[in-house]
Amino acid sequence: MTATADPVLLTLEEALTEVPPAPTLVWGAGMAPLTWALSASAPVRYAGLDAGDARGVTVPYEATLDPALGEATRLVCRMPRSKEGLAWILDLASARLPVGGELWLGGHAREGIRSAARPMEERVGPVVTARTKRHGRVLLARRGPGPAREASLDEHVRRFDVPFGPTVLRCVSYPETFAHGRLDEGTRRLLTWLEHAPRGKRILDLGCGAGLIGAALATRDGTQVTLVDASVSATLSARATLAASGLAEHPVLLADADDAPRGPFDLVITNPPFHEGREQDRGIASRFAAAAARRLTGSGRFIAVANRHLGYRDDLSQHFRKVDVAWEDERYRVWCCVGARTA
Ligand SMILES: C[S@@+](CC[C@H](N)C(=O)[O-])C[C@H]1O[C@@H](n2cnc3c(N)ncnc32)[C@H](O)[C@@H]1O
Repeated sequence: MTATADPVLLTLEEALTEVPPAPTLVWGAGMAPLTWALSASAPVRYAGLDAGDARGVTVPYEATLDPALGEATRLVCRMPRSKEGLAWILDLASARLPVGGELWLGGHAREGIRSAARPMEERVGPVVTARTKRHGRVLLARRGPGPAREASLDEHVRRFDVPFGPTVLRCVSYPETFAHGRLDEGTRRLLTWLEHAPRGKRILDLGCGAGLIGAALATRDGTQVTLVDASVSATLSARATLAASGLAEHPVLLADADDAPRGPFDLVITNPPFHEGREQDRGIASRFAAAAARRLTGSGRFIAVANRHLGYRDDLSQHFRKVDVAWEDERYRVWCCVGARTA
């Protein structure tokens, strides 16, 4: 059964339905359609990485960056966004697959799938190309006889400190988190601006990533911050950042922006994504603004930092009556929006 229009998943599905079935763990964001195709012939479990991944899933499901393989002798993944994400997949496969077990990795040419063959060979075992089609490729590595060793996500964590006013935020980030291991330039500017900006008491950090913006605001007395992100790695990172900064009482939720708590909040703050999956998409900022507008008190504000070239005034004006540039330099703007237009 063809279950998806995604060219990489289609190619993975074709490659996997040509070989004898085996107990399989499918792992990664957006992979549910593959489980529909594979589960007819073998036990399949799915470990997702995104708040929406559970949708429509009919096999055992877990949202996790650290999946147990259990009985699975086949691990099926999509080329991750970062080399740190790939390193974690290879660590997992080499530590948790039995000897002869299979790692299947599908990816598009522009995702750099060809470059994954060498590290797969070095870390897991001999690699063959199982299929090339639709500008994509499916690589298959069989776990070699080398000694098994524990895979620990902790070895892939990055930590760095960020000063904020009189305090220091201790940022913790797991692979596949936005700006893994570094302070994003937009976030840096927003934090600098926030040091002198007016305050809120009930705050929503929408698309919190590793949690730095929410953590910064949580250092202020009397604030209650809720952090929300659709990514499993981001929420794991944000919880760890808050804990390391002594702010663990503030909740971090795995959810799409549309499903964030209703509040109301005096301040919704974000560094919004401008990619949906792997494609550039300005519409997500508009979706974030709409979600914020529905959650703000009458005098509440929506604050967003964004690259100057993205504009955004028209997108934001659809959801707020007053849209101002609160701060800008040659590369970024901090937008301040009030007067939510709620239908
Ligand atoms: C540009 S990053 C900013 C992360 C963090 N706030 C920072 O400044 O470092 C945007 C974040 O939005 C999250 N995101 C993307 N789409 C989302 C959605 N539909 N709902 C909730 N979060 C989403 C991403 O996972 C990512 O962590």
